[in-house]
Formats: sequence, structure tokens, C-alpha cells
Amino acid sequence: MKLRENAGFSTICIHAGQVPDPSTGAIITPIYQTSTYVQDALGQHKGYEYARTQNPTRAALEANIAAIEGGRAAFAFASGMAAEGAVMTLLQSGDHVVVTDNTYGGTYRLFEQVLRKYQLDFTYADTSQLGEIERAIRPATRLLFLETPTNPVLRLTDLAGACTIAHGHGIPVVVDNTFASPYVQRPIDFGADLVIHSTTKFLNGHSDSVGGAVIAVRDDHIEWLKFIQNAEGAIIGPMDAWLVMRGTKTLPIRMERHNANAMALAEFLAAHPKVARVHYPGLPSHPQHDLARRQMLGFGGLVAFEMGSLERARTVLNSVQLMALAESLGGVETIISHPATMTHASVPLERRLQIGITDDMVRVSVGIEDVDDLKEDLEQALDRV
Ligand SMILES: Cc1ncc(COP(=O)(O)O)c(C=O)c1O
Repeated sequence: MKLRENAGFSTICIHAGQVPDPSTGAIITPIYQTSTYVQDALGQHKGYEYARTQNPTRAALEANIAAIEGGRAAFAFASGMAAEGAVMTLLQSGDHVVVTDNTYGGTYRLFEQVLRKYQLDFTYADTSQLGEIERAIRPATRLLFLETPTNPVLRLTDLAGACTIAHGHGIPVVVDNTFASPYVQRPIDFGADLVIHSTTKFLNGHSDSVGGAVIAVRDDHIEWLKFIQNAEGAIIGPMDAWLVMRGTKTLPIRMERHNANAMALAEFLAAHPKVARVHYPGLPSHPQHDLARRQMLGFGGLVAFEMGSLERARTVLNSVQLMALAESLGGVETIISHPATMTHASVPLERRLQIGITDDMVRVSVGIEDVDDLKEDLEQALDRV
């Protein structure tokens, strides 16, 4: 199985990094559930010494994800947060980072409650306004950390514009691409230096594994990430690596359906008299709809809407029957959640309100079920309001 130089995205998802197992010819890379490897003689081994350092299942996933994101190498971690933690070890005390203000709550918690202890400094900027990035940069700034679309208000950052500004100051750009998925946008194509994923979400796609990945292009980043993955040891396990790899093979067709279903639900909600406001980049009413059309292929699987009060939001959340009330996103099944008390509970109230995460906001990770069933479920829940 040989990939053409210019193989298409779906072909890459299915085949990149996947070679028949050398010992049996198995088409699917086995789950190498082992902690160590027997050496032929002292100092003679097959490239595998100890499973924290190397694992063939993990290596196959890493090669696959690197190709999917258009990077030169990828490193798989135990979770999205472990991947973020690894990237942040590129920095040293005294360094400053400009961060999208509306980033995932766990990212904010890592930066504020852990990394500040090591004298790293963070400025949270509305990166949807390129001028705000420029304003936030200081002489000590060593990283621009972007998330687009943001979770859960789906604000966008112009990736090409942001990379031009950061690179003009010699600052590398990292993009958390979890929310969009590489089917919808590939940040490296726009100039990003590093991409982070919670593979727990769209890459795995089946809500049955927790993991993370970092994709890199620069030699110095690749060298450090390889080192830190082994030195800190927050690796993805072989079973989880295998599950993500199973997921990436169907990423394009899943994302097509996520995109289509989310667009249909966003339109349905926007037309519903009991819904106060809908956030979805695919709606012409979205303030950055034009940017979304330029930068994204489809508009992603996440929709957020405001119900006017916490009580009304609670009624919807407690009344859905098909949708699951749960944390997380990106699985084949539709998940509904309340960002203020679930994903963003670790963000202080004042900050939450500043970035638009109101108490009446409901977020839907739209799955790939038949869209009429999803509409009907929301309709009956909204009827109870
Ligand atoms: C945008 C984003 N980044 C990172 C993470 C963290 O990933 P994990 O839960 O796999 O640690 C999440 C989790 O929800 C997320 O939504």
C-alpha cells in the first residue's frame, strides 16, 4: 500500500502511517499491549526498547495524524490536556503567552493554576480582532496560543492573519484544532507551527477513548516534543491509540454529516421563537461568516444557543430524550451540555460573562444521527419551555 505524493484527504486518513503488520500481514496495526521488547543481544534490538519510549501502535497513529494535519511529525499523549502540557514545556520561566480569551476552560485552568507557578505569564486577548493580538504582544512573548472556533461561543480567529502577525515578531503559533477537526481546517496550511488535539473528540469520534496529540513542523519543536514525551511520560496507551486510529479512517465522512446536521439544527434553532440567539459560523448572521467560508470546509459540528434564562435552558437540557446530557463532544452521538456549569465551571463567573458564556447558553455537539430525529427531540424539549 503506497500513498501517492498528492493523495487526497480521505485516502490519507485511511492509509497514512498504516502498513500491514510485518509478522502476520494483518491489515490493521495490532494493539501492541506490551511494556518492553526482547533484545536479540546486548545493544541489538528492533528499534523498540521500552514502551514509554516507543510503541508500534502509537507510532502508527502518530504517522497517521501527522499526515492528516499536514505536519512533519506527531506525538500522542494521554489526553488533550497532557498534549497542551507538553507544548508548554517549550517555554521557560519569564516567558509570556498570548492566548485566545475564549479558550477551553481546562486550558485556562492549566495556564492560571499550574503554569503561573512556574513564572509563565499569560494575556488573554480577543484574537478574533487581529489588532488585539498585536496589542498583547510583549518583548517576552514566546507563543501565540489560538483556538478557533472557540468553545462554546464559536468565535473565529483569522489563522493566516494571526500567523503573519506572530511570525513578524518571531513568535511561533500553536492552534488547538480540537473543535474544528482537520477535515474542517488545517492550521498548518495557514502558517501554524504546532497543532494540538484532544483526540478524545472528533479524531476518535466514537466517545470511547481519551487522548491527545501535538503535530509539529519545525525541527527544534519535533526534537523537544519527542524528548518530553519520553521524559515526562504522559503517553497514550496502545488500546487508546488503536481506537483513535480506527476513528481517523472515517473522519471525512463523519465530518460531512456532522457539518450537515449542525447546519440544519442551527437553522432550525435560529427560526424557533423560543430561542433567543444561535451561535454557528455557518449562519449568515454569524459576525465572522465570511471568514468561516474562507477558512473552514463546512462549519463544524458544534452549535450553541441562548434560551433567555437559566431556567429555560435547564428545561431544554432536562427534557431532551435522544440527545445525551453529558460533557465532551465530537462523537457520533449528539451530546447536549451547559457550558457555564460543565465544561467551563473552572472559569470564574466574571471572566465567563466577559467572554460571552452566559448561564442561559446551551451547547450541542451534533452527532451523525438522522437529522429529523434530532430536530424532533429539540422541538419536544423546546415545547416544554
Ligand atoms: C478545545 C479543547 N481542547 C482541549 C481539551 C482537553 O482535552 P482532554 O479532555 O482530552 O484532556 C478539550 C476537552 O474538552 C477541548 O474541548
